Amino acid sequence: MKHITCIEDLRLLHKRRVPKAFFDYADRGSYAEETLRANRDDLQKIKFRQRILVDVSKRDLSTTILGEPSSMPLILAPVGLLGMQHGDGEIHACRAAQAAGIPFTQSTMSICSIEDIAGSVEKPFWFQLYVMKDRGFIKALVERAIAAKCTALCLTVDLQVIGQRHQDIKNGMSVPPEWSLSKLFDFATKPAWVQGVLQGKRRTFGNIAGHVKNTEDLTKLSAWTASQFDTSLNWKDVDWIRSIWPGKLIIKGIHDIEDAKLAVETGAQAMVVSNHGGRQLDGAPSSIHVLPGIADAVGDKIEIMFDGGIRSGQDVMRALALGAKSCMIGRAYAHGLGAGGQAGVAKAIDIIRNELLTTMGLCGVNTVAEIDRKVLAD
Ligand code: FNR
Repeated sequence: MKHITCIEDLRLLHKRRVPKAFFDYADRGSYAEETLRANRDDLQKIKFRQRILVDVSKRDLSTTILGEPSSMPLILAPVGLLGMQHGDGEIHACRAAQAAGIPFTQSTMSICSIEDIAGSVEKPFWFQLYVMKDRGFIKALVERAIAAKCTALCLTVDLQVIGQRHQDIKNGMSVPPEWSLSKLFDFATKPAWVQGVLQGKRRTFGNIAGHVKNTEDLTKLSAWTASQFDTSLNWKDVDWIRSIWPGKLIIKGIHDIEDAKLAVETGAQAMVVSNHGGRQLDGAPSSIHVLPGIADAVGDKIEIMFDGGIRSGQDVMRALALGAKSCMIGRAYAHGLGAGGQAGVAKAIDIIRNELLTTMGLCGVNTVAEIDRKVLAD
């Protein structure tokens, strides 16, 4: 890890260490990947005002997220199948987040279950929910998150229909997986990964296994899961979730001002301005493009989180300047996990922390609260 200096280094190491099908699953986006690229391109177009001779000796990244202290305005986003990037990946990522003093969000589509993580970490974490057709299962899942003392529920609402990732099909990312000589060779050249995953607690969707009969039969489990995404989902379902979840609610996947206003009406404490990291609606604008309008419309009524394309502390600064209170990262830490387990995730967080501190210093800013549009060049 000594010579790793940026998130791209972690990405390249991830690519070397993890089988291609799983690396691509994390790295790629839907269809022509226009939105995936726009997320990065538009962030990089935003330039800072360089300020000089301001005393920046007391820079401080600490902030609050949903009213709780956080060491910096960063959150690990829900990312499915982390346990396939590294054995027990969800546990390693959660431990790294907790050691760094920032929140971790567990995906519904995790390999480790809620209970696996709760039994392996010191502090509470957040749980991300996909509302599936089987509402009995969803109610039970929410009750499990309550029993595990999860401190926030992150309700993801941008996956009513599923965007296609061409590369997953080409890689035979199906259940059962399509095998080929080159795939076997790929796995054979990554023995550390194979050993890690085999030693992990689980190799299937830990939150769903147990609900479906014959869960050892991956094909059945996968078919059930695929059939469960609910195209009829609507705002009334958000009210239902509010009635069964007593804690803090985050609505993730807001990308439009009208939807942002409706989300405020639900009484949720926070929203994530997100296009699912360019994995869903291809052709949607970048998240950073829509952030300022949403922040202007509802930023004083609800806590605004942001994700999509964050790969550096500079990117976090850009999103905070345009109205986000904190940022989620997805791929940036998934790359860290694939590159080096818990240490790799810790490295990803560290890189972003140091870049943010330096950027604040060179923009003449000492606290997160001071970051606003004034730090940006015209
Ligand atoms: C995701 N994302 C996601 N979101 C969610 O709510 N539940 C999930 O299970 C997943 N799964 C998932 C898997 C992978 C491999 C990726 C890369 C992303 C979306 C994620 O929470 C977040 O919105 C994006 O990752 C943000 O974009 P960046 O940071 O990856 O550019």
